[in-house]
Amino acid sequence: MPSVDWKPKFSVGVERFDDDHRHLFSLLNQLHMSMAGRERNSALNLILKDLVWYTQTHFRAEEVLMKRYGYPELAAHRAEHDRFTEQVIQFVAHFQSGRNEITVEVSDTLQEWLAQHILQSDAAYAKFFRLKDAVEVRSLPQALVSDAYCAVRGALS
Ligand SMILES: [Fe+2]
Ligand SMILES: [Fe+2]
Repeated sequence: MPSVDWKPKFSVGVERFDDDHRHLFSLLNQLHMSMAGRERNSALNLILKDLVWYTQTHFRAEEVLMKRYGYPELAAHRAEHDRFTEQVIQFVAHFQSGRNEITVEVSDTLQEWLAQHILQSDAAYAKFFRLKDAVEVRSLPQALVSDAYCAVRGALS
C-alpha cells in the first residue's frame, strides 16, 4: 500500500488533533519503511514508543473533548480507540519479543485503520462539534484541548 500522508480532507477542524493525525501518519510511514527495509534498530524502537504514546494521548484527548461536548457516540468511538490501541500494543510486544511475523502488512493495516477512522468516526464528531457550537469549537479548542492533554498526561504518567 502506498504511504498515506495527511491531506486537508482529513481535517477535523481542531488544529491540535490535525497535528496529531499528521504525526501519526508520519510515524506509520516511518514504520512502513522500517518494516520494508527489515530494519531492527534503535530508531524503530523510538518510532514504536512514540506511536504508543501518541495513540494513547491523542485518543484520550479526543475522548475528553467529546465528553465535554456531550457527544452521543462517545462509547462507540472509545471502543474503536481501545481496539486500535490494543492492536498497537500487541504489535509492539510482538516486535520486542523478536517474533518474525511482523511484516509491512501490519503497519499498512494500522495505517488503513487510521485513515478510515479519521474519515468516518473522527469526521462524525467534527460534524457534531460544528453543529453544537461552531463559534466555541473554533475559538476555544486551544484551551480545551490543552486541558485535555494535561489531564491525559497526568493520568498516563
Ligand atoms: Fe483522531
Ligand atoms: Fe478518534
